[in-house]
Amino acid sequence: MRSEPTDVNSSLISPLRPHVMVLFGATGDLARRKLLPGLFHLAQAGLLPECRIVGTSLDDLDDDGFRSYARGALDDFAHHGVPDDEWDAFSSSLFYVCQSDGDEALAKVVAELEHELGGDVARLHYLSVPPAAAPEVVQRLGKLGLAERARIIMEKPFGTDLASAVKLNNTLHATFDESQIFRIDHFLGKEAALNILAFRFANGLFEPIWNRQHIAHVQIDVPETLSIGNRIAFYEKTGAYRDMMVNHLFQVLAFMAMEPPTALEPRSIGEEKNKVFRSLSPIEPSQVVRGQYEGYLDEPGVGAHSETETFIALRCEIDNWRWAGVPFYLRTGKRMAQGARIISIAFREPPKSMFPIGSGVGAHGPDHLTFDLADASRLSLSFYGKRPGPGMRLDKQSLQFSLHETGRTTDLLEAYERLIYDAMCGDHTLFTSAEGIEKLWERSKPLLENPPPVRPYPPGSWGPNAIHQLIAPDAWRLPFERGWRTAS
Ligand code: BG6
Repeated sequence: MRSEPTDVNSSLISPLRPHVMVLFGATGDLARRKLLPGLFHLAQAGLLPECRIVGTSLDDLDDDGFRSYARGALDDFAHHGVPDDEWDAFSSSLFYVCQSDGDEALAKVVAELEHELGGDVARLHYLSVPPAAAPEVVQRLGKLGLAERARIIMEKPFGTDLASAVKLNNTLHATFDESQIFRIDHFLGKEAALNILAFRFANGLFEPIWNRQHIAHVQIDVPETLSIGNRIAFYEKTGAYRDMMVNHLFQVLAFMAMEPPTALEPRSIGEEKNKVFRSLSPIEPSQVVRGQYEGYLDEPGVGAHSETETFIALRCEIDNWRWAGVPFYLRTGKRMAQGARIISIAFREPPKSMFPIGSGVGAHGPDHLTFDLADASRLSLSFYGKRPGPGMRLDKQSLQFSLHETGRTTDLLEAYERLIYDAMCGDHTLFTSAEGIEKLWERSKPLLENPPPVRPYPPGSWGPNAIHQLIAPDAWRLPFERGWRTAS
């Protein structure tokens, strides 16, 4: 059942239907850190419709046990306080079915809660389960009749290569129509990702220069200081390319590189993103640096000869009229020197011959436009300006903007919150489609079939030395020569 997601903008303005949400993997790490606190914040912000949340997992809990579990999660991770009255209302909407109670028990609780809510109740299934368990849950939902009137949120990874992605999509489509499926990529739920679209298409200033004539190269750089923590079993099979590149960095790249959509609605935006993926050059092993931090092999659970990469940097191109010849450099890794999430656009340099030798023109690289994809996003435009005083000496200066300056950061929704809300609205704008994800796996084929060897890098560094050859004669923006300005 593969069809295009429908245009659902109308549901954004009509009140949401009551929902029964089934949270698979309800006692897992993601549920504790993000989903339960996120649902609570949506309720606080008045964005959750009348809703009953049924947690389910292997843990042997009852409703009260799940409520205490959720309370613990909120105490640890809720960002906006947990006032008693709000907690009482939220906790009374929480229910639990242990998986060992059998499928019928889940279907029965959902039916009872729907009856209690009355009227036209929508279902939302959130699959926060390990990838190997997801197909079985999907089939169970179909068997129990729980796919009707339902939407399903799938967590990444959506396969590990083209064949497994096609297989997973076929399994999904045997039970759910594509319009019911929401493949979550939380990077796209970050406020800053949508702001890329606003910035590009709501202004006349930048779009005319958003092309190969004016842009020399683009970097999408997401170093992390974190290590793998308790996710070794998952990470050993996944690695940085599958964990971060396919799911997050390429998605951000699509927003950055796509053509103007005909309308700000899911189908048009999805189409333009897919065109970017179709034009993406195949990822060639010679254009990739894979790294592994020193000490990874000693982590408990890691195979003695593991070749899993904890770092990846690559160069790719988008072979279309707008971007042909412009290199895109992407990098991400664990245990690196700093945590950051930036997109940096380097503009072509002008002829500099009129400036006297020693003036400093070009000495600090090209002009840059930099997006910081932090939740409270920031933006900087750097350029050369004259240093005050006699003669012509040039310094790099910058115009900077931070969302904090607007005083509207309290309106921020965390990425997961926004995406759960969008799925309840049926809005696919920020979700990945079957076609998009399959195209990315297809483009990844040369790398996956013939990965270059992993190179060691010291924890706390910027990756193996080979990253500099990869990008030469350009240079990585991070670490920044000048930091972000903070409001005084
Ligand atoms: C997850 C990856 O999807 O994104 C993690 O599995 C990564 O490995 C995380 O650390 C980064 O997300 P954020 O929002 O913390 O930058």
